[in-house]
Amino acid sequence: MQAIVAALGSAVLLLFVAGGASGLSLDYYDRTCPKLEHSVRWAVKKAMKNDNTVPAALLRMHFHDCFIRGCDGSVLLNSTAKNTAEKDGPPNISLHAFYVIDHAKEAVEAQCPGVVSCADILALAARDAVALSGGPYWDVPKGRKDGRISRAIDTRQLPAPTFNISQLQQSFSQRGLSMEDLVALSGGHTLGFAHCSSFQNRIHNFDAASDVDPSMYPPFAAQLRKACPAHNKAKGAGSTLDPTAAKFDNAYFKVLLRGKSVFTSDQALLTVPKAKALASKFAEDGEEFEKAFVKSMIKMSSLSGGQEIRLNCRVVR
Ligand SMILES: *[C@@H]1O[C@H](CO)[C@@H](O)[C@H](O)[C@H]1NC(C)=O
Ligand SMILES: *[C@@H]1O[C@H](CO)[C@@H](O)[C@H](O)[C@H]1NC(C)=O
Ligand SMILES: *[C@@H]1O[C@H](CO)[C@@H](O)[C@H](O)[C@H]1NC(C)=O
Repeated sequence: MQAIVAALGSAVLLLFVAGGASGLSLDYYDRTCPKLEHSVRWAVKKAMKNDNTVPAALLRMHFHDCFIRGCDGSVLLNSTAKNTAEKDGPPNISLHAFYVIDHAKEAVEAQCPGVVSCADILALAARDAVALSGGPYWDVPKGRKDGRISRAIDTRQLPAPTFNISQLQQSFSQRGLSMEDLVALSGGHTLGFAHCSSFQNRIHNFDAASDVDPSMYPPFAAQLRKACPAHNKAKGAGSTLDPTAAKFDNAYFKVLLRGKSVFTSDQALLTVPKAKALASKFAEDGEEFEKAFVKSMIKMSSLSGGQEIRLNCRVVR
């Protein structure tokens, strides 16, 4: 099993090194669906007006999609009578806003039926979510295909908020992503909210010596404990991942360096010199962070895997 996973990891890596093997291009829909990007942006913008958590949700959804079977829209599929889909797997607590992709897809289908994949719509929506939150804009390579497989059990392959640095690195490198990609993409936490359950391990019964993770700035730990008392059952309780959760900026790295990060997997970035140096660079220079983030997003979102164009993003054709 271990060997199969390792072999799969290097196959992805090889595909990656081969570059254009992903078959994506910037002008993919120029002739077949020229208004695509406009339609997706419209759907994202409209949803953001009513719900400021939409950008974080879309970014998270794209990330989740790409980490399981490549960016093939598998995260968008509904469960069926015979199959529990990824979106109903254990970490589903952080997934919402699927309706935004549905609205974009409906608008796109009305203009160019059966041409544009749901995986591409999600990649564009994630870019728009970042850009419309004050972050960088970039051209998204397109031409992904939608997959037909979505299994709840595969969500175990996602990097967990409790991961340490070696677990994070392994998860990223299996997908051809480097340490720089890991640190830059962690910066995506600049948008977003964490439920208590995802950082409970750091603020209650941390270890035999301490109730809270000693790497946390104590007043910050106290603040999180107040929001999330032990045995907390309140569904919506939790914390933003940086103080400016609706704005895409480098504040995440600034607070990270001060012991005010929420997840074990955030704090883990400070445990190896190379990652720590990158986090410091991104904290000091927002433009460097944006450049690195865009580069890593394009790399991650080029992990392709599907084979069809769905008509409804929630069901296979
Ligand atoms: C997919 O699931 C959602 C939520 O359970 C439901 O509202 C929707 O109708 C389903 N869509 C399809 C096409 O099955
Ligand atoms: C999350 O997954 C569970 C099964 O693990 C399911 O019962 C629940 O409906 C899902 N929640 C959402 C919001 O999709
Ligand atoms: C990370 O966790 C794994 C699994 O618990 C462990 O084997 C490994 O030694 C840990 N690595 C570090 C750097 O703590």
